[in-house]
Amino acid sequence: AKPITVNTLRKMKASGDKFVTVALYDAPMAAMAQRCGVQVLLVGDSLGMTVLGYDSTIPVTMEQMIYHVEAVRRGNSKSLIMGDMPFMSYATTERAFTNATRIMQAGAHMVKLEGGEWVADTVHKLTERGIPVCGHLGLTPQSVNKLGGYRVQGRDAGAAKVMLRDAKLLDEAGADLLVLECVPSALAQEITAAVSMPTIGIGAGKDTDAQVLVINDILGLTEHPPKFSKNFLLEAGDIPGSLLKYADDVKNGIFPAGEHSFD
Ligand code: KIV
Ligand code: NA
Repeated sequence: AKPITVNTLRKMKASGDKFVTVALYDAPMAAMAQRCGVQVLLVGDSLGMTVLGYDSTIPVTMEQMIYHVEAVRRGNSKSLIMGDMPFMSYATTERAFTNATRIMQAGAHMVKLEGGEWVADTVHKLTERGIPVCGHLGLTPQSVNKLGGYRVQGRDAGAAKVMLRDAKLLDEAGADLLVLECVPSALAQEITAAVSMPTIGIGAGKDTDAQVLVINDILGLTEHPPKFSKNFLLEAGDIPGSLLKYADDVKNGIFPAGEHSFD
C-alpha cells in the first residue's frame, strides 16, 4: 500500500474523512496498528508514564524518545510516524534544530511539540527546513506543574480566545497537524474549522479531523483511565480487533461519544 504522508492527511481533512492515530511505543504494536488501518503512529512522550513508570512526562529524555522511535520505525512500513519532542528539548530554536534532527533521523516523519505563540517561530523555522511539525494545544502535559494539574483547558471565554489565536498562529507558521487535548467540543470544532491543517482530538469531541488514543487505554492497561478514553479490548476480545474497532468507530463517527467529551 502507498505510504501515508502529510498530503494524504490534508486530503482527508478536505473530504471530511476522519483519520486515526494511536500513541504506541514498540515494533509489534506499530506493525499491528498500521495493518489495522491506523494512519498515524505517535511515539508519544506519554511513554514516560505508560511504559517507564514515571508520574509525568517531564523526566522523558531524548535518548528514550529515540530508542522508541527506532523501535516503532522497525515495525512500521506504511503509516506516518510522529515523534514527540520531550520536555525542554525545543526550549530554544537552536535546541529544537538539534533535537528534531535526531528524532527525524531515528525514523520519524514528523515531530510534535507543545505550546502556542511562543513556539510559532520555531515551528516556522523547522517546517521551512523540511521538518513537518504537529502542534499540541489545550492540556499540554509538559506544563502540568504550571497548569496545576491535568484538567480541561479553554473553558472560559478568555482562554478559548487565546487557544483559537494560538491555533491560527501555528497554522500560519506552517504546522502540518494540531493535537487538541482536553478541550471543550465546541471550541475544538471552532478551531478545526478555522485552520487549514488537520486537527487530532483527544478529549476534544467528535468534530476534530482525527482522533488519538494511547494504546494502554485502548487495551485496558490503565488503572484509572481518563474519561475521554475507551477500553476497546472489552468488546473486541483481542488486540487486532481492538485496533480495528477503534479505527472503524472513529471513521464512522461513533467514537468519541458524548460520554468521552467535555462541554
Ligand atoms: O504523548 C502522547 O501520547 C500524546 C498524545 C496523548 C496526544 O501527546
Ligand atoms: Na505527548
